[in-house]
Amino acid sequence: MWLKTLATSPLSGIALFVIFLSLILRFSINFHTSQRLFSTEELALFNGTDEGLPILLGILGSVFDVTKGKSHYGSGGGYNHFSGRDASRAFVSGNFTGDGLTDSLRGLSSTEVKSLVEWRDFYFRTYKFVGKLVGRYYDSQGNPTKYLKGVEAKAARGAQLQEKQKIEEAKQPACSSRWSQDEGGEVWCDVGYPRLVQRPIEIAVTGKMSKRCACFEESQLGQPGLEVYQDCDYHANRCKA
Ligand SMILES: *[C@@H]1O[C@H](CO)[C@@H](O)[C@H](O)[C@H]1NC(C)=O
Ligand SMILES: *[C@@H]1O[C@H](CO)[C@@H](O)[C@H](O)[C@H]1NC(C)=O
Repeated sequence: MWLKTLATSPLSGIALFVIFLSLILRFSINFHTSQRLFSTEELALFNGTDEGLPILLGILGSVFDVTKGKSHYGSGGGYNHFSGRDASRAFVSGNFTGDGLTDSLRGLSSTEVKSLVEWRDFYFRTYKFVGKLVGRYYDSQGNPTKYLKGVEAKAARGAQLQEKQKIEEAKQPACSSRWSQDEGGEVWCDVGYPRLVQRPIEIAVTGKMSKRCACFEESQLGQPGLEVYQDCDYHANRCKA
């Protein structure tokens, strides 16, 4: 009787649809939450040594299956030191020895942290996400830790600073430059005079000081912080660099 009503009721189509939808939803939630949580020791088994196991790599606590890149990530491959562990720091430091292979980002600048988040995006695009590493970035429930949230906030700050720097630098045209084996480096200005200047907010962005070459007009040459190239005339528009 109930079934008959269900089958003939004009609402039954909707009811069935809702049941169907909830099943799909349930399935997809299960699918996401059943993603595996790894301990450091478990992840270490997937380092490419055992040919029968997939090769896994962690970055910012996200674990990816990189088996399809076996020639790089497998035993003897150039990226093998990333396999079976989270060596997040090494993606930006390039230090693959000993303590360099760590997931600690202590002391990295906001742009370095940003580039690390971009690396993680790359793995999401290119390889299969298989789970999370419990530790610095995810807790035992698989929830992001305070540390991971801090890292993501820092990366966002890095992006903002880079944007700001781009806008600042656009205000003062950059020098043209070229380099050749025989003649070395050369900078020049089609309009104005080349000067070395401290990059604005560079320290906040990269943690280091750096200079760039920009072109200044005659009336601007008295500004503080402009450095004439070594062995170059005050009014030269071309200098060896
Ligand atoms: C690499 O993985 C193998 C097994 O897959 C394991 O026996 C070995 O201990 C791992 N190496 C390291 C350094 O964890
Ligand atoms: C790599 O890191 C280790 C440990 O922090 C350090 O001792 C070593 O000097 C570093 N190597 C390079 C090339 O930076």
